[in-house]
Amino acid sequence: MQCSWKAVLLLALASIAIQYTAIRTFTTKSFHSCPVPNPMNCSLNQEAESADRLCDESPTFAYNLSKKTHVLILATTRSGSSFVGQLFNQHFDVFYLFEPLYHVQYTLIPKLTQTKGSTDRRIMLGAGRDLLRSLYDCDLYFLENYIKPQPVNHTTDRLFRRGASKALCSPPVCETLTPIDIPLEEGDCVKKCGTLNLTLATESCKDHGHVAIKTVRVPEVNDLRALVDDPRLNLKIIQLVRDPRGILASRSETFRDTYRLWRIWDGTGRKPYNLDVTQLTTVCEDFLNSVSTGLSRPPWLKGKYMLVRYEDLARNPLKKTEEMYEFLGIPMDSNVERWIQNNTRGDRSAAKHKYGTVRNSAATAEKWRFRLSYEIVAFTQNACQQVLVQLGYKLVSSEKELKNLSISLVEDKDFSPFW
Ligand SMILES: *[C@@H]1O[C@H](CO)[C@@H](O)[C@H](O)[C@H]1NC(C)=O
Ligand SMILES: *[C@@H]1O[C@H](CO)[C@@H](O)[C@H](O)[C@H]1NC(C)=O
Ligand SMILES: *[C@@H]1O[C@H](CO)[C@@H](O)[C@H](O)[C@H]1NC(C)=O
Ligand SMILES: *[C@@H]1O[C@H](CO)[C@@H](O)[C@H](O)[C@H]1NC(C)=O
Ligand SMILES: *[C@@H]1O[C@H](CO)[C@@H](O)[C@H](O)[C@H]1NC(C)=O
Ligand SMILES: *[C@@H]1O[C@H](CO)[C@@H](O)[C@H](O)[C@H]1NC(C)=O
Repeated sequence: MQCSWKAVLLLALASIAIQYTAIRTFTTKSFHSCPVPNPMNCSLNQEAESADRLCDESPTFAYNLSKKTHVLILATTRSGSSFVGQLFNQHFDVFYLFEPLYHVQYTLIPKLTQTKGSTDRRIMLGAGRDLLRSLYDCDLYFLENYIKPQPVNHTTDRLFRRGASKALCSPPVCETLTPIDIPLEEGDCVKKCGTLNLTLATESCKDHGHVAIKTVRVPEVNDLRALVDDPRLNLKIIQLVRDPRGILASRSETFRDTYRLWRIWDGTGRKPYNLDVTQLTTVCEDFLNSVSTGLSRPPWLKGKYMLVRYEDLARNPLKKTEEMYEFLGIPMDSNVERWIQNNTRGDRSAAKHKYGTVRNSAATAEKWRFRLSYEIVAFTQNACQQVLVQLGYKLVSSEKELKNLSISLVEDKDFSPFW
């Protein structure tokens, strides 16, 4: 497309008008997207005309930000997201944050449980997106709005799972006594590093070439459109999915109280009348919405969306990880490679921590086949049939088939990103 100054001028005028509207409606909108077209390219974003997408900053905003790649790992609980998070946490040039949206959820909806109704989950989306935007901009002070008790002098000891972020456990944020090369265990980090200085964390973030954030608190990819459409962010989404049957089995084991009725069903063979089926169906609906969007290849996700099946990653961690880094355009780092080699072999070093990632990844991915009764599997297949087929997970039609590991339930399927 020809780049004309007229177009740029028109655009600037339009943006003043939009800003004016934005100021007037500021109090009623909790979140603004700013669909500024890439000035290097002059192709007008169609979204610019959409009335409800407002622009709160001038298009002359420095484009420096977009030199960084911002990565969002979109996942759900027990889908292997800690594992995928580590693949970025270990990279020397990636500033990684583990579930910062926990704080938004905790503040806005304290009673929310892991997978409660979708209306509740959406309450926090506007605030969540604002927080993500700030964090990608390395504004860690923004988190203070959501940390209880409120941090004083920009320091806190209440950051959720601080120890899961390598950058927050190493210099300059934490001057450990041990050599830098030895990463601290998660619990040791909290003990040895003391209070977190958010000013230092901000500096560390700025010193890294890229920012990666993992979340299980965004329901589906469509919820991220406003961020993806913002060219200043250069956001790329890696969506991690897993066989819903495997997720159900893993959750029943990990969240024993919340999933108690499923275990009763499993143990007694009788389905409790008050079973909360949405604990399963919400996952399947979110996957279905996301995956349908992703596979339809909409222009707004071009080059910005990659779907990864946990099972493929578990089977071939190094190869999949290389593919992810290639998609992101970030050179892979030997730390990542070493971490994979160290943590996917199922040696005796199996982690005891329930969120641990150290285990034999391939075997873990299949364990559900022995944990769930055939009856529950059949129920799940019925409830989630569409998404199972879409993601290439094979349905079983007998107990025998379920337990026979020489029958693979994961079809080969190509989910390469589209450009
Ligand atoms: C402009 O956009 C086109 C299509 O999206 C892309 O192929 C091209 O690389 C872009 N050019 C620049 C300079 O960003
Ligand atoms: C953008 O980059 C230039 C050169 O790299 C630098 O001088 C300038 O301060 C940066 N601007 C911002 C807002 O970071
Ligand atoms: C915060 O900093 C001020 C000025 O340095 C100091 O007086 C105050 O005691 C600090 N507050 C806490 C809780 O550390
Ligand atoms: C946090 O680190 C900054 C930058 O080094 C420093 O100026 C500040 O005093 C530190 N805050 C506290 C409370 O120690
Ligand atoms: C690999 O595992 C060994 C033994 O647990 C540990 O000493 C080493 O630091 C690990 N290396 C990496 C890169 O994680
Ligand atoms: C498991 O499946 C394989 C492949 O279909 C079959 O050859 C084998 O007999 C089955 N094993 C059992 C114990 O049913």
